[in-house]
Amino acid sequence: MRLIRKLYCRLFQGAFRLALPILPYRDPKLLTSVEDIPAALSEKGKLNPLIVTDAQINALGLTRPLEAALKRRGIDYVLFDGARPNPTTAMVERAVELYRTKGCDSLIAFGGGSPMDCAKATGALVARPKKSLGKMAGILKVRRRLPYLVAVPTTAGTGSETTLAAVIVDAKTRHKYVINDFFLIPPCAVLDPRLIHSLPRDLMAATGIDALTHAVEAYIGRSTNKHTRRDAEEATALIFANLKAAAVHESQEAEAAMLRAAHLAGRAFTRSYVGYIHAVSHSLSGQYDLPHGRTNATLLPIVLEMYGDKIHKKLARLAVAAGLGQAGEEDQVLARRFLDQVRALNDALDIPRTIPQIREEDIPTMARYADKEGNPLYPVPVLWDAGELEAIYRKAVK
Ligand SMILES: [Fe+2]
Repeated sequence: MRLIRKLYCRLFQGAFRLALPILPYRDPKLLTSVEDIPAALSEKGKLNPLIVTDAQINALGLTRPLEAALKRRGIDYVLFDGARPNPTTAMVERAVELYRTKGCDSLIAFGGGSPMDCAKATGALVARPKKSLGKMAGILKVRRRLPYLVAVPTTAGTGSETTLAAVIVDAKTRHKYVINDFFLIPPCAVLDPRLIHSLPRDLMAATGIDALTHAVEAYIGRSTNKHTRRDAEEATALIFANLKAAAVHESQEAEAAMLRAAHLAGRAFTRSYVGYIHAVSHSLSGQYDLPHGRTNATLLPIVLEMYGDKIHKKLARLAVAAGLGQAGEEDQVLARRFLDQVRALNDALDIPRTIPQIREEDIPTMARYADKEGNPLYPVPVLWDAGELEAIYRKAVK
């Protein structure tokens, strides 16, 4: 990256870092059971929520206890199960239409990252009916309060229940972009471990490594503070200790620990940002419709390796926090062990080491998208422009 652009990126990130203590972040009110949602809605005078979920969750009947609880309380609801992986502008528009025609007054996002993103974007479009979602891409472009939103994660990964981001794919161009605004932080979230109990192993694995990627990218970035570092360290430790057991549903403690880890990692990255792993991953999953967690998981060790010794000190601290080494060992040794352990965890979870779908002719466009998403916003340890980012795709395809 050219020096002048580097300076601009670092100044931009510095301004956000300085503003961090005064920015209006908030933590959602946390509930531990879906049965508590009707009371939370009543408290706010909400009587007709739109539940945004996907067809698989609906078919599994995961929303039934919530629906029964709403009925018991005399709360009407409308169910939209059209959120699919990598939700598109067209899906969001369908949800908005349902919200309006059925006279809904609030939203319940129920599912993994896709229903969460879809529900947040639905709320944004309800709040800003004259503005397209594409025009809300970037930072602080929503600028209006969304309808009351309760977030119910059914995966332990995205941390979306506490983040200010929604990721949407343009239905026509397949361009995947991120909408970031404080109004997208759900005011209420439910961490109910029963909801992740039936998740298939590969989904638990990919979403769990997504959470690890959030924690690591936030931690190695240059905009951390002691709270986000602590959250990222705790999340990393919980993931190394629990993900393998949670993936095969060995115990409810492991499942609950993963829900907490994903939440902490979400809290860390919504304040301290992610980095190029996410920027590249978004361009890949937008282009080839690949699951976000899977692409992140494959990219995580590749990009960490490419950052080189610039991140050794931070990886070393993270390794100690995660119990992978002792304070006092050499940074380089600890950083290497951290990387080896990430690879070992990926291998144990059967996550592929490559992304064979990548086509050489698509790389320049995807790298441009990643550049646009990452620069100047993400306070990454090493700055790369589109040309330099292309190397990540070429390493990942091998
Ligand atoms: Fe992610």
